[in-house]
Amino acid sequence: METLGRVLVVVPTYNERDNLPMIVERIRAAVPEAHLLVADDSSPDGTGEVADDLAAGDEQIHVLHRPGKQGLGAAYIAGFRWGLDEGYDVLVEMDADGSHQPEELPKLLGALADGADLAIGSRYVPGGKVVNWPHRRELLSKGANIYTRVMLGLPVRDATAGFRAYRAATLEKVGLSGVESQGYCFQVDLTLRTARHGLRVVEVPITFVERTVGKSKMSGKVMSEALWRIGLWGVTGLPKRMRTNRHHG
Ligand code: GDD
Ligand code: MN
Repeated sequence: METLGRVLVVVPTYNERDNLPMIVERIRAAVPEAHLLVADDSSPDGTGEVADDLAAGDEQIHVLHRPGKQGLGAAYIAGFRWGLDEGYDVLVEMDADGSHQPEELPKLLGALADGADLAIGSRYVPGGKVVNWPHRRELLSKGANIYTRVMLGLPVRDATAGFRAYRAATLEKVGLSGVESQGYCFQVDLTLRTARHGLRVVEVPITFVERTVGKSKMSGKVMSEALWRIGLWGVTGLPKRMRTNRHHG
């Protein structure tokens, strides 16, 4: 097991005023050495000011103010760029609403220390769970993962998962400049890029707990972007997949 160096937890926020202090406190307690970057898209509810107040009292907390709602993927790319420029060695993705439990973060970091290039907190490997999701949301998520597997042939059970730890070296190899995904399909996009680079993706079982405060930002726009982009990646990657399948019989 190797030492990982400096860890940055990136937390994207849009209207999470009533969740942010809770999640920040839990992250600081669970991984006291880690730094935190809140990437806020000028939330109308004042989340950005709440983040500034938290940062004023703690030098391990940083805030990235973005001009407007540009999507989860765009917020993460900006947060990752900031973290790479600042020289962090590990970049973590985590939701602000408590769905990803900071107490499980050491498990993800452990997988990186054991050699993974990307550790995914997975709901769909043995030991993984979802708590309190409405039936239709569970179907949507399972459907998205089946669609992704059929289109892309990724050897990952939970390719849409949003609780992850990347080595900085992984993001540097994969490159962020070509990433066009704005919304949640960013997760699949980076999983695909990481796998295509031959890097090691490891899934760690986690329990995803549906939020009790505030609202999900999942929307028709988010879903349709995922549908067409994943379809497009599937079609453009097809010749290569057919060649590889032939080689392996
Ligand atoms: N800055 C910014 N900009 N943050 C955003 C945006 C945006 O446009 N959209 C969402 N967020 C933030 C939310 O404020 C929250 O902290 C986090 O991203 C997750 O958003 P939710 O709206 O709570 O996501 P969800 O619970 O529906 O979906 C979760 O599961 C999906 C897979 O089933 C997330 O973990 C997704 O990343 C994941 O793909
Ligand atoms: Mn959520």
